[in-house]
Amino acid sequence: MYEEKWRPQFHFSPKEMWMNDPNGLAYYDGEYHLFFQHHPYSKIWGPMHWGHAVSKDLLHWEELPIALYPDELGQIFSGSAVIDKQNTSGLKDSDEDVMVAIFTHHGEDNEKQSIAYSNDRGRTWTKYEGNPVISNPGLKDFRDPKVFWHNESNKWVMALACGDHIRFYHSPNLLDWSYLSSFGENYGAHGGVWECPDLVHIPVEGSNEKKWLLIVSVNPGGPNGGSAVQYFVGDFNGEAFICDDDNKTIKWADYGRDFYAAVTWSNVEEPIWIGWMSNWQYANEVPTDPFRSAMSIPKRLALRMQDNTYKLVQTPIDLKKLIKETIVQKEEVIIQPGFAKKLKVSNLPLLIKGEVKELDRETSLMKVTLAGEKDKIEILFDREKEELVLDRRNSGNVSFSNEFPSVDTMPLHEIYDFEILIDCASIEIFLNGGSSVMTEIFFINKDCFTLEVSVTGGEVSLKNVSIDYLKSIW
Ligand code: FRU
Repeated sequence: MYEEKWRPQFHFSPKEMWMNDPNGLAYYDGEYHLFFQHHPYSKIWGPMHWGHAVSKDLLHWEELPIALYPDELGQIFSGSAVIDKQNTSGLKDSDEDVMVAIFTHHGEDNEKQSIAYSNDRGRTWTKYEGNPVISNPGLKDFRDPKVFWHNESNKWVMALACGDHIRFYHSPNLLDWSYLSSFGENYGAHGGVWECPDLVHIPVEGSNEKKWLLIVSVNPGGPNGGSAVQYFVGDFNGEAFICDDDNKTIKWADYGRDFYAAVTWSNVEEPIWIGWMSNWQYANEVPTDPFRSAMSIPKRLALRMQDNTYKLVQTPIDLKKLIKETIVQKEEVIIQPGFAKKLKVSNLPLLIKGEVKELDRETSLMKVTLAGEKDKIEILFDREKEELVLDRRNSGNVSFSNEFPSVDTMPLHEIYDFEILIDCASIEIFLNGGSSVMTEIFFINKDCFTLEVSVTGGEVSLKNVSIDYLKSIW
């Protein structure tokens, strides 16, 4: 049971101390593994370890002992984990399949890739004697290996972040790697360094088609400042990634300020990812105690063909079993200009869902406010500007960093439906079946709120609206 102020109640956070990127996401025999960048002795980023947690349902997490400690080759930076079912590595020595972690050793002078393995369901780890398995070729940034089994060419493939591009390597056995190709110098957003790539085969909604999705985090240079995740859609032929779009297209996975370093689970049928819910601009200063940072909700991924291009759609995993009490369940709610709908909310977390049936052509603004006594978070759909605005300038404790108070925007033509996840210190907004997403954190100072919806111009009809209190996962 965690009850500290601003402790997320249905998102993973470490019991104590610092956390950043999700690492080593792998499913094995009923358990989803979540390793994470962790500094176990401080709430400030420092010598990186891999913390560890497991879950049977991606909702309830059990934190386990630290999996990987820094050593003479350096800190343990981000990376991935795979289940080596065919024992290609020869590292298996029990009845269990061997789980292999591929990570960056961050030494004083360089970054290189190393591996460690576990023959007991990820409980204990041994570092491979022949580390590193890929030494540094003379690049300052050379990190965050994400490995997957490429069936068509019967080999392991690694995506690696190299400053301003991604390099692909391949291997028959996870131990011997050779260079394949590079992507990205002239593609996408380059406001900062590229980090935490992932290459994943992903279904296209409503078809049997699959495409390759290349995920790349960039810091700074996000759409609203600081760290953010971009993606590319294309093909992968076992050697190179070929992007469908031209090199000027930038696609953001999330327009909020707090979704970073997201990658997918390995050894699952359908792609599911999770991201770190913070931003390097202020991550070291957020006012939580005795821990710092939480993960996003895990989300299923697919592509949707829209306006002649593939768009990433994200669906949060089902929260039904966390519902404690339904406080609103209405087939229709009509909101007229000048008559705001107000609801007293006695606690968080909350799950809000519904559809937007008709936005009157005259409707210029639709506003949702979660307000305490003095603090508030505002979400505004501006019809004329065609954008969603999230304003957290007065959301409670905002003074710990100048970068934190902000008004952030996301391009948006219409709203058909919405699913809003509000935990004690975060909001995740999914619109239009998850094709427009915004994730932000906040530190509000009240347990009792008013939820208010108002419109300007013309009336709006909301359908199938539900508001639920959620239980704690702890
Ligand atoms: C991304 C990142 C990674 C690195 C890790 C270090 O947030 O900078 O590139 O491996 O964090 O903690």
